[in-house]
Amino acid sequence: MNKRMEKLLNEQINLEMYSANAYWAMCSWFSDKDLDGFANYFKVQAKEELFHAEKQFNYIHDVGGKVTIGAIQQPESDFNSVLEVFEITLSHEKAVTKSIGNLIKAAFEESDFATHTFLQWFVTEQVEEEATVSQIISKLKMIGDNSSALYLLNTELAQRTFNAATGGAA
Ligand SMILES: [Fe+2]
Ligand SMILES: [Fe+2]
Repeated sequence: MNKRMEKLLNEQINLEMYSANAYWAMCSWFSDKDLDGFANYFKVQAKEELFHAEKQFNYIHDVGGKVTIGAIQQPESDFNSVLEVFEITLSHEKAVTKSIGNLIKAAFEESDFATHTFLQWFVTEQVEEEATVSQIISKLKMIGDNSSALYLLNTELAQRTFNAATGGAA
């Protein structure tokens, strides 16, 4: 495959793996506070991110490229509030969306239409991820300091599961 695209896709794999680690750290922060539903939400999120990395890994191999696994930056593990965790998550997902956008732009410039097509799945995925996180942020703002409302949201998020066949959450 095209060397520029190979390099950019490898950087994307690194970003997905960083995302998985960042969400594991958030999962741990919530587990520590016995907010198991929130912990579950981020555990599912981490699985999704590893699924994204694997999808890109497989694609690079499918088109004859080389995967290089680099060092992964250490994520934050201490947070000030539940809301802050989700605000960090949203800004991180926006950065990922931007990165996918840059990849698509590069694929177009290189006339790499296979990669261009491959990346469309991630465009849809990012829309969904940003929407889900934004909804939770809205709910948290409504909840404010009401701990019984927070407990209800915790119960709701405990229901989230990872679908290994599609890589999506339900
Ligand atoms: Fe991702
Ligand atoms: Fe994500």
